[in-house]
Amino acid sequence: MQAWKDYQSQNKDRFLNELLDLLRIPSVSADSKYKNDVARCAEAVKTHMLKAGCDKAEVCPTAGHPIVYGEKLIDPKLPTILVYGHYDVQPPDPLNLWTSGPFEPVIKDGKIYARGACDDKGQMFMHIKALEVMAKTNTLPCNVKVMIEGEEEVGSSNLGLFLENNKEKLKADIVLISDTSMISMESPSIESGLRGLAYMEVEVTGPNRDLHSGVYGGAVANPATILCQMIASLHDENNHITIPGFYDKVEEMTADDRKALNAAPFNLDEYKKELGVKEVWGEKGYTTLERTGIRPTLEVNGIWGGYTGEGAKTVLPSKANAKISMRLVPNQNSTEISELFASHFRKIAPDTVTVKVTAHHGGEAVVTPTNSPAYKAAAKAILTTFGKEPIPTRGGGSIPIVALFEKTLGLKTVLLGFGLDNDNIHSPNEKYDVFNYYKGIETIPYFHKFFTESFGK
Ligand code: BES
Ligand code: MN
Ligand code: MN
Repeated sequence: MQAWKDYQSQNKDRFLNELLDLLRIPSVSADSKYKNDVARCAEAVKTHMLKAGCDKAEVCPTAGHPIVYGEKLIDPKLPTILVYGHYDVQPPDPLNLWTSGPFEPVIKDGKIYARGACDDKGQMFMHIKALEVMAKTNTLPCNVKVMIEGEEEVGSSNLGLFLENNKEKLKADIVLISDTSMISMESPSIESGLRGLAYMEVEVTGPNRDLHSGVYGGAVANPATILCQMIASLHDENNHITIPGFYDKVEEMTADDRKALNAAPFNLDEYKKELGVKEVWGEKGYTTLERTGIRPTLEVNGIWGGYTGEGAKTVLPSKANAKISMRLVPNQNSTEISELFASHFRKIAPDTVTVKVTAHHGGEAVVTPTNSPAYKAAAKAILTTFGKEPIPTRGGGSIPIVALFEKTLGLKTVLLGFGLDNDNIHSPNEKYDVFNYYKGIETIPYFHKFFTESFGK
């Protein structure tokens, strides 16, 4: 569409500068010290929705951070696309590993460096700009609702209730999300599934106080040692997870589907080199793409206890702790898996310690069918702007609200993500290529067009 091209190229610099301004707001949802910044970011998103041509936009308060909702409804007979994204970001630490300030975006070698550049401000803002392109050129083909939340990175705990309470307002025909990644710009791809998540915290307590490790060491169990032994026992020699019942509901993929998954371009040597590891690791009998796409996993996210300050202190700590998460696949239930984990972890604890297990947020896995009209519209949009048919992949990350879109609103989702796996999301020096940002703005209107054209057919 020439009108889209023209509008985008005439407003290119502004589109970029507006994103940079948004990235300057430190909307870290996990840390209450940023509460006002999160609120300020919500207001900014609302203002952008109105500027893009929404007829209505509002900041909806929740028990946590607000949800921003906007809409442009042109004709009830036309289909409605519900765009979802998040304006909150992960904490920026460790700060000393950033080469520039996490909230002082800079462009280097065509890449925007800032916390949230890719996850998800850069990607969700493409939708607001794409909406502007369509609205201002009078070419919007369908109704659009936009819901941008501020708690995705902390588990979307208030969004579920918002869906329950706003079923009518959120009525739509499809959910469209850009919050995932592609293989590369040369091999565009669409994620056709997300993993679920069960997140646990454990505390192992030994003696009732920290002890002198010379006076008591060797005679009293060290909770740090015990915790390490317990954690190590959670995988067997084939790197299978040892929690009884963990795999019971896991659906094995057919040989054909596995073949298709492994046909995606993937270079193991480059993968290792890029990550700085000599060898990869994982569940025996599965490839790296399968290990991150269709298999459940268990990871230690953090482990601490005892003395970690400067120099040496001889101490036998009273407590040791860890945060452990499990990525889940379709049919596994996060509550059930949390319970299996908790009872197993308590069971394997020796009498020398006591353990406390608590569950944090979780969410269910989803598969987005590749034969639906919506997926086909997304594939056609990619084909139009990339000149290549996209490859369906299975993403390893989680967006827990996607399962609730289906359960609460009866809506399927299309994951039209433009990130790259090496965008350093959740890490220092997060980046997003300016090229990807513009490519997203260029591609999204085609999804709207093709989805509308295919609607009801
Ligand atoms: N955008 C990511 C999820 C993602 C990343 C999906 C890359 C596919 C590819 C999202 O913001 C995220 O980080 N989700 C968390 C879970 C959430 C409950 C904190 C995750 O996957 O760890
Ligand atoms: Mn995200
Ligand atoms: Mn994230």
